[in-house]
Amino acid sequence: TWKMDSIIDDAVEAIRAQVGDARVILGLSGGVDSSVVAALCAKAIGKQLTCVFVNHGLLRKNEPEEVEAVFTKQFDVDFVHVHAEDRYAALLADVTEPEEKRRIIGSQFWEEFFTVAQDLAEGGRPVKFLAQGTIYPDIIESGARKTGGKASTIKSHHNLIPFPEGVHFDLIEPLDHFFKDEVRALGTALGLPDHIVHRQPFPGPGLAIRIIGTVTRDKLHVLKEADAIVREELDAYNIGVNEAVGERGGELVRTTPGGPEVERPVWQYFAVLPDIKSVGVMGDERTYGYPIILRAVESSDAMTADWAKLPYEVLGRISGRIVSEVPGVNRVAYDITSKPPATIEWE
Ligand code: XMP
Repeated sequence: TWKMDSIIDDAVEAIRAQVGDARVILGLSGGVDSSVVAALCAKAIGKQLTCVFVNHGLLRKNEPEEVEAVFTKQFDVDFVHVHAEDRYAALLADVTEPEEKRRIIGSQFWEEFFTVAQDLAEGGRPVKFLAQGTIYPDIIESGARKTGGKASTIKSHHNLIPFPEGVHFDLIEPLDHFFKDEVRALGTALGLPDHIVHRQPFPGPGLAIRIIGTVTRDKLHVLKEADAIVREELDAYNIGVNEAVGERGGELVRTTPGGPEVERPVWQYFAVLPDIKSVGVMGDERTYGYPIILRAVESSDAMTADWAKLPYEVLGRISGRIVSEVPGVNRVAYDITSKPPATIEWE
């Protein structure tokens, strides 16, 4: 629309004016916010932008490939895919405590990211600016920002954390006065695909906090395959990413294309792999395998959540497919707890 075009034009002009001919770096997570900033910067400054995608091996099935395809084929930016899977696997090998997982994954991200910034500088392309997808609610949540016009903080998960010693970037935050639904609208107007624009919330530490206990390659493989089935079935049932979320009478109302209206969107739906095995039977054989926990919640802000009352038919299809298609899994359970007292994630 005209309004969206003019918002984009203004943002593009502002980025050009701020950046001049300097180099900009941006950490792509695969999420909506960083992707929209990347698309805006791509439009504004093209190859002056280096997008750094740190692949920790903890994203869902096919996500790394999808991110790479969008920012190499569709947008003309400098794209760096950091294959950090082995380093993360080694760092996480013996870690079971959830907050410890978060700390390791977060701090390794900045190690990887600053290594790329350093390499660019040594290659004669010093980086002056850091672009990031801070949106308006992030600023509210993190409280008052440090003032003085100095770039002194950086977004990590829900927080703004300090830069490491001796590191300085000027910040570019073109989304800092937008709400999430506006950011999604911008993304669509910029041509980002639906699987990015309508991506469900996904934690920064990724699948590591959906594998209870130690994270191994085998468990990651099992969880990725099971989670892919969960998403496929729920997307197909149209409870998923494909619907428009609209505002009506102050209540969030989701309109299923050609289908019934549902009062609140299914906010997140995913698989969890617990650290136990149970006995099953297949043919004449006893099996001893993993269960998969299915989690699907309705929420409007993740502060509270209700377990989603999914139809038995859908639950049955997901269960049937997981036990027949994912080797090593012989049982599926559905988490019927709301938040509080549970949380959305299991760790
Ligand atoms: P909980 O599990 O606390 O989650 O009910 C609330 C929302 O936050 C997401 N979440 C995270 N997001 N880093 C993130 O970026 C994290 O460490 C993290 N932990 C939880 C969760 O997916 C849900 O949307």
